[in-house]
Amino acid sequence: MKLPRQVKLVEVGARDGLQNELVIIESADKIALIDRLSATGLSAIEVSSFVSPQHVPQMADAVEVLAGIERWPGVSYPILVPNRKGLENALSCGVEEIAIFAAASETFSERNINCSIAQSLERFSKVAGLALSKGVKVRGYISCVVGCPYEGDIAPETVADLALRLLDMGCYEISLGDTTGVGTPGQIKALLDVVTEKVSVQQLAVHFHDTYGQALANILVALEAGIAVVDSSVAGLGGCPFAPGAAGNVATEDVLYMMNGLDIHTGVELDKLIDAGLFICRLLYRSSGSKVALARKSLLSTRC
Ligand code: HMG
Ligand code: MG
Repeated sequence: MKLPRQVKLVEVGARDGLQNELVIIESADKIALIDRLSATGLSAIEVSSFVSPQHVPQMADAVEVLAGIERWPGVSYPILVPNRKGLENALSCGVEEIAIFAAASETFSERNINCSIAQSLERFSKVAGLALSKGVKVRGYISCVVGCPYEGDIAPETVADLALRLLDMGCYEISLGDTTGVGTPGQIKALLDVVTEKVSVQQLAVHFHDTYGQALANILVALEAGIAVVDSSVAGLGGCPFAPGAAGNVATEDVLYMMNGLDIHTGVELDKLIDAGLFICRLLYRSSGSKVALARKSLLSTRC
């Protein structure tokens, strides 16, 4: 197996992880979570999103969260932006990186951002152009890269074409989202075979939800394909309000444990990450979705 020697973990727990939670977390607690995540050695932490508060109430305090976090040197703090209004809000907060998010499924695009794929690309092209002209970096997401909760299977060619469109707009990286976590290693391999014919692996990241427990296996397939950027969410929090049945993202702790076991450098400290996950789980009145965090916790209580 030839795997990358170094992998960048993009922590999405404060955004993807929390956006679906009904318990509204205080801004101060979101800030405390992000500050704890910064202290783990992560180099990319998605903070929040500038979307409609009617659609996603949990993200309504993006301004307060951005104003309150400590920005560590060398760490990027991207924020999700769906349209010009979101970008203007982001610019007024001094954001240095945004993420735009398209979908490979028409129905998901309509449900998620209330427009067709073509309309979204037109909108995102203007958003990306303006962001870049202000010196703001732009990352691109593609949702439903394997399957859509409304349309079923998605053709890899659709994903590859979309990735090229987002790169043409100036995105520096495309994160391939298995939004509902339906993909299996065979499907991910088939997807990446097609996408990497058109897009360099250096410009790709993977973003796997773990609904069917396939995420770690799928990440391994992505590593084998040469992809070295992995999105994940502390404590396995997450889900998309517009993707019924979608579970959380793969837990960052579990991804890190696997990377450590494979001798792949990430720069992230597992114990600090587990603490950050347990901190947010206490506030959400739930146990961690990370198997590694649970294993460590039960090991500690056995020792006591
Ligand atoms: P819309 O209703 O078509 O927008 O929503 P509109 O332009 O017609 O405006 C309607 C109202 O929303 C207006 O307010 C606007 O001002 C307001 P009113 O005049 O009625 O009081 N509005 C906004 N407010 C704040 N910030 C904004 C904004 N834009 C309009 N940026 C819109 C379109 C995209 C805004 C809406 O559909 C929306 O917010 N959707 C939420 C999308 C979302 O956050 N989804 C979850 C994240 S994506 C994801 O999780 C997938 C990912 O993780 C990858 C994966 O797993 O696959 C990234
Ligand atoms: Mg997601």
